[in-house]
Amino acid sequence: MGIDRAGIKLTDVIIGYGKRLIETKPYFPKGPLRYVTEPQANGIGLLKSMTKEEAKEMLTFCRIKPFSARDRQVAMKINGQDVLGTWIEGGGSKCAYRVKLNGEEVCVLLPHANWGAAVNEPQNMLELKKLGLVTNDYCKIIPVEVNGSTIPALISKPYDKHSFKIFDKKNPNDALEKYFDINKMSEENIEEIFTPLIKDIKTLIDNNIHIAYDSFNIALKDGKLRLYLNDLPYEKLVRKGNNDELFKIYTDYATEAVAASFSWSAARKNPFVNSLGSIAGTDKIYPKLLDLYRKL
Ligand SMILES: Nc1ncnc2c1ncn2[C@@H]1O[C@H](COP(=O)(O)OP(=O)(O)O)[C@@H](O)[C@H]1O
Ligand SMILES: [Mg+2]
Repeated sequence: MGIDRAGIKLTDVIIGYGKRLIETKPYFPKGPLRYVTEPQANGIGLLKSMTKEEAKEMLTFCRIKPFSARDRQVAMKINGQDVLGTWIEGGGSKCAYRVKLNGEEVCVLLPHANWGAAVNEPQNMLELKKLGLVTNDYCKIIPVEVNGSTIPALISKPYDKHSFKIFDKKNPNDALEKYFDINKMSEENIEEIFTPLIKDIKTLIDNNIHIAYDSFNIALKDGKLRLYLNDLPYEKLVRKGNNDELFKIYTDYATEAVAASFSWSAARKNPFVNSLGSIAGTDKIYPKLLDLYRKL
């Protein structure tokens, strides 16, 4: 009973098939090694990265999520090394963990939803960087083993390891008033404060780049407020759009991100910063911002 003519138990076949469904294929990189950064003798330089196509192929074997988005620590195997990831923050589709690899701290972003979209990020980041916009110092796809399954994850530089300051509007990780004089935040200084941001917005518009709300964060670089663009899961960045509409949308996102870069307690004491977080406040300074844009 339950045994077919070849002597194989039917139950074994079913269990075997079930296992195949949840197993992931071992990852063998095709072609030469691609480096996460320039080849180096130590640090993360020697990690193998994957192409978007390889990652997509691997995803067809990843039918289970081998970790919970609520895990504060995740044991991972990266490049043959057992490492422990400690929680930084989580978003709607990825969880960021800090990992020490070859003596260097890196941020490993494990996808917990919308896996297929995350593999678009390195390419999008590179495109924006080529336009002179501020993004993470590096971002690559690497195979990460979690609980026996290998999944394509993203590796990037932790925000706090950059030579400039990064302010993530959704998960405040720092407070802008520590590095930028909040008393400068007033209507009289709009031109000085916003011109670098408006220049970045112009670069996006001139290149037909369509990105959404989540991608707009703030960097403080060389004393100037700039857009910090990350969380870029888009299949395509370039689409035709209405420039005036895009300018309005992008300035709304940028001004809100500026307001969110200050701590709540500092922002509420400064009426100008406070107003940037509201539609009425941004609408009030919009004519001035449009003027700056047209002058560029
Ligand atoms: N390089 C990084 N260093 C530190 N924290 C990061 C880094 N990348 C992402 N994070 C944190 O993880 C959160 C989720 O990442 P994100 O790319 O926005 O993914 P999601 O698609 O889930 O929104 C971010 O809001 C941020 O707080
Ligand atoms: Mg996000």
